[in-house]
Parts: sequence; structure tokens; C-alpha cells
Amino acid sequence: MSLIVKKRREHGIAYAVFSSCVSEGNRANGFAFIGQFGTIRMKAKQLMKINNQGVDEMKIPPLKIGDETVSIPIIQGGMGVGVSLSKLASAVANAGGIGVIASVQIGFEEPDFFTNNNEANVRGLQKHIRKAKELSPAGTLGVNIMVAVQNYKEMVRTAVEEKIDLIISGAGLPSELPALVKGSNTKIAPIVSSGKAAALIAKMWDRKYQVLPDLVIVEGPDAGGHLGFSEEQLNAPEKPKLETMVQEVMASLKQYEEKYRKKIPVIAAGGIFDGNDIARYLKLGASGVQMATRFVATKECDAGEEFKEAYLNSTEETIGLVKSPVGMPGRAIINEFVEKMNQGNIPITRCTNCLKPCNPATTPYCITEALMNSVTGSAKEGLIFAGKNAYRISGIVSVKELMEELVKETETALAT
Ligand SMILES: Cc1cc2nc3c(=O)[nH]c(=O)nc-3n(C[C@H](O)[C@H](O)[C@H](O)COP(=O)(O)O)c2cc1C
Repeated sequence: MSLIVKKRREHGIAYAVFSSCVSEGNRANGFAFIGQFGTIRMKAKQLMKINNQGVDEMKIPPLKIGDETVSIPIIQGGMGVGVSLSKLASAVANAGGIGVIASVQIGFEEPDFFTNNNEANVRGLQKHIRKAKELSPAGTLGVNIMVAVQNYKEMVRTAVEEKIDLIISGAGLPSELPALVKGSNTKIAPIVSSGKAAALIAKMWDRKYQVLPDLVIVEGPDAGGHLGFSEEQLNAPEKPKLETMVQEVMASLKQYEEKYRKKIPVIAAGGIFDGNDIARYLKLGASGVQMATRFVATKECDAGEEFKEAYLNSTEETIGLVKSPVGMPGRAIINEFVEKMNQGNIPITRCTNCLKPCNPATTPYCITEALMNSVTGSAKEGLIFAGKNAYRISGIVSVKELMEELVKETETALAT
């Protein structure tokens, strides 16, 4: 087995990664070296450890984003409205992953949310970033900011002012993101659903700003929330495959990585459920994964109990596609709310003008109200986004327990 050995500076621990995972280094006869840290030669077996069940394990590789090292290559996906706030994000960051606060309509708990929406959201974001940093002073924290929101620029500027480590942006083309974070240490990551989209962003940022994404998230069709595919693509017999998409994105970024002599970590997202899935994407060459659905069923998830219960009670058949005012299909639990909405548009009673693509006169429903209902009020009357595999979740655990289980499973799977 050919290996690349990575030495982590801060712990002085040698990590082994399947050679297919990484494009740097030299590979020969089961030995490897990394130039930066001098030559390390080690046999694969020496880097494996035997766990207490007698199973071979291999250390999970850390996620390197430029000068930042995150010990566990798991990003908790941003979940709006109010599903991933400071409590969940800080717990994930404390467990060694990247915790992500969802910024969309984050001011929903502010008293002036409906009268002074933009300022309420800026204030809400400030509060949650500060709180997350207080709860996880040493962890890595990100904010998810969808390009489709009206107050995109204000939210990015706020996150930068609050010195967030990472901004993740999907649901549109983040064409101005590099200019908005210029001069800060905030790293930027687009979410894409094809190699073509990754190449388009890299080309545009290279030309306009002479920068590259610090990492790229590739989101496949099994994710929860809004999807980067048309209904036809999602219902076709040959659905797009995340494995293929990850390979296409890596290939499309190669020329830019060579030009800038910079590695762009590629992160797989959508339907990733356990350590076997994580190991599969790492072996394919991804630098990590983004997972959201699994983090809903945690004690620290910011959503109410009814939201979590709805996940536990879901079945394969009750998770499906829904229309959305964002203009893309979404994946959610087919509950009473979705059935009502499928029978005809639900009239809008109040509007905060939150989304660029939404027309309140023709929209099938108000997504702010629907998402707010699901986390605060009766979940039945709200929209509950969920990934395709949500029905496989059997209980609520702590973030620490979930992360430990995922790492253990991944390490076992990497060794086989
Ligand atoms: C409840 C829920 C809310 C979500 N909200 C957002 C969001 O606000 N912005 C976004 O970019 N993605 C959102 N997503 C997508 C996730 O961040 C993530 O990429 C995706 O769900 C990964 O797939 P998985 O849930 O199968 O792990 C949401 C997903 C869920 C389940």
C-alpha cells in the first residue's frame, strides 16, 4: 500500500493518508515523504494502530486550509433558519471540526425582526459569532451566507468584522466575495454542484482578484436544504453522483492549483452519513466532508425538540423534494405543511424581502415563515429541511459522541 505521511507540526504526530487522497509528496513501495518537514520514511503498518476491538485503524488526516489546520476534516454544514447557531457551531468546533453558523434570517429572535430586518440580522449574526467564539475560543468557526439573500454584502462584512475564520457561500455565484473579505484573514469557500461551476468561479476570481478559493465544497443531490440541480436532473434515472462530481471538481481546479502553487482542499457534501462514507471520499481524494443532517440529531443543535423528533420519526418515503422561493428544489420532510403547499400557494401575510429571487406575489409560500415555524413553533406547520439519509438516524447524541463515532468509523474504514 502506497502512503503519504504527513507530520502535524503542533502535535508532532505522523499521519498516514492513502496516496490517492493527496497529490503532494513522493510515493514508492509503501514509503513516502513530505518535503516541508524533512524526509520521513515509515511503513504503513507502523502508522496504523489497533483499537480495543482488535481492528486496524489509521489516523484520520487533518484538514489543512492554507495556514490553518483543523484536526478533524468534518465541516458541520450551515443550517438556516436557526438550526445551526452558536450552540451547535461551538460544540462542533470544540470537538475538532469546523462549526458553521447559518446567517440566513439569523435575526429572527430580535424584537425588530419584521420592522428592521437588515439591522436585526446584522445584530443577530454579531451576537452568535461572539457567543460561538466565547464558547469555543480555540476552535475553527465559519458562517454560511447564501448569495441569494438580499443583505449578502452586509452579512459578509459583519462576519469579516467579527473576524470569522471562514465564509461559505452557495445558492448563487459568489462573484464579489474576494473583494468583500480583502485585507482580512477570513477564508472563503464556494459551494458548487459541478466541475464546471468550480472552474467558472476559479477563473473569475483569478482574473478579477488574483485569488483562489481557500476550499471548495461540492454538494451532491442527496443533501438537505436547497439543491444545485433542476427537478428533471434529480428525478432522472441517472442522477448526478457525488463521487463523480468530486473527481470533476478536483480535475477542474488542477490548473489553478498549479498556477498558484496552492492546494485547494475539496470537500464532499450531501448524504454523507457515517465513517465509511467519509473514508470513501477521503480515498477518492477529497480533503474532508461537510455534513449537516447528522448534526440535527444532537443535543446541541439549536432547533427545537419537535424538529429533532421529526427527523427521528421520518422514513425513507417521507423525505422528498419540495418547491422553494429560492428557485431551486429543496429536500425536506414531507409533512402537513408540504402537503398543504403542494395543493396551492400559501398567501403571504408579511414579507421581509429576504431573497433576491423571491416574488411575494407568486411565491408558493413564505420561506422565512415556514422555516421559522419549524424551529420555534409547531414543526408540523413549518418546513423541515433534511438530507436523504435523515431517516437512518436513530437517536439524539452529543456532538462529542457523534464526532468520536465518526472519527472511529472513518479510521477503521481507512485501514481496510
Ligand atoms: C435543516 C437544513 C438547513 C440547511 N440550511 C442551509 C443554509 O442555510 N445554507 C446552505 O448553504 N445550506 C444549507 N443546508 C445544506 C447543508 O449545509 C449541507 O451542505 C447539506 O445538508 C449536506 O448534506 P447532509 O445534510 O446530507 O449531510 C441545510 C441543510 C439542512 C438539513
